[in-house]
Amino acid sequence: MTSARCGGKRIKVVSIVGARPQFIKAAPLSRVLRAGADEILIHTGQHYDDNMSRTFFDELEIPRPDHHLGVGSGSHGLQTGLMLERIEKILLDEKPDAVLVYGDTNSTLAGAMAAAKLLIPLAHVEAGLRSFNRAMPEEINRVVADHCADWLLCPTQTAVENLRREGVDRGVHLTGDVMFDAALRFAGLAETRSRVLETLSLRKDGYVLCTVHRAENTDDRSRLGGIVQALRRSGRTVVFPLHPRTRKMLEGWGLAEDLSAASSIRLIDPVGYLDMIRLERNASAILTDSGGVQKEAYFYRVPCVTLRNETEWVETVRDGWNRLAGTDPDAILQALDNSAVPAEAAFSFGDGRASETIVRLIHENF
Ligand code: UD1
Ligand code: UDP
Repeated sequence: MTSARCGGKRIKVVSIVGARPQFIKAAPLSRVLRAGADEILIHTGQHYDDNMSRTFFDELEIPRPDHHLGVGSGSHGLQTGLMLERIEKILLDEKPDAVLVYGDTNSTLAGAMAAAKLLIPLAHVEAGLRSFNRAMPEEINRVVADHCADWLLCPTQTAVENLRREGVDRGVHLTGDVMFDAALRFAGLAETRSRVLETLSLRKDGYVLCTVHRAENTDDRSRLGGIVQALRRSGRTVVFPLHPRTRKMLEGWGLAEDLSAASSIRLIDPVGYLDMIRLERNASAILTDSGGVQKEAYFYRVPCVTLRNETEWVETVRDGWNRLAGTDPDAILQALDNSAVPAEAAFSFGDGRASETIVRLIHENF
């Protein structure tokens, strides 16, 4: 990659991350970006526990953030407002040529709004995703970020079409998915470094992996209760790394005891990315409401049951690797029992070089 110049200088890009999946997406992209541009990394502090943040920087060798905003948890308005105020100050100070945001979290929303108001060109990685469910905070964040962005970097053809239906076609590019870049880049390292199967005495195909963290599931007792019931009734060994939000809500709803009473259910703390890859690749099936985990199941060809009523990642369902079950225990168990492996080998998330494509597109504009 040759250095891009802006008025005779290397271009300066401010990248904004804050939540676990954004650290993973930034790992491959930041490496390519820094080869030809100056990157200033902002960590909003949305995720702050070591196992939700620091572990990823260490394991994936992500450069230390230049600015840590320490925003922490709070209501949507408070969290987004604090980020917006602090990001704006930094952008005024750093005067970057472009700002780059990832995905659909409150950190994405704040970064996008701060850049748009200061008229700084904005790149949105993972543009065009839609669940068509405005009750999800992420859906609002995505729509706003997309409508602020100058470069809309779409992981899939469906994302491009979603934008076209909203009348957005300027600056839209099909790039492939940076999460697939990361999945390819770190799979080998996960095999050599991770000891998680040995530590938990698990064998290949001997367990189901489960993750849950969506507000629509954790904050609704009946939905979270449905998932708990399904896990208990499945009779399978279930490995369940608990997002801090889920741990808190299981306790709050009085469901934690139910879950830990079942000896087949292994509740563990959130794991690092390398352990997670190894857990995913060796599971007989994955139950999840996570966007990233649905895709990784697809990348690694592990049958997935999604604990939601809809998904943004429609290709995973269309290509036969993912079933939508919602949170009704019968529907979950039926989907789990029918999670056969499809015969057709379709692949919809790019060629593993989305980071290179994105960086090239940014450079071409300077
Ligand atoms: C956020 C994103 C979601 C993304 C997810 C990835 C928004 C609106 N949601 O959801 O899109 O899929 O990250 O994991 O941006 N907590 C801790 N320690 C931490 C972080 C969180 O204890 O390090 C607890 C706090 O009680 C907090 C709760 O988890 O209130 C929720 O955290 P928050 O970042 O608001 O939302 P997530 O559910 O993590
Ligand atoms: N992940 C992880 N450890 C865990 C759970 C998830 O490393 O204990 C990784 C997972 O492999 C994926 C990403 O975190 O790459 C997904 O993040 P999350 O589910 O928090 O958010 P979403 O993708 O739904 O926004």
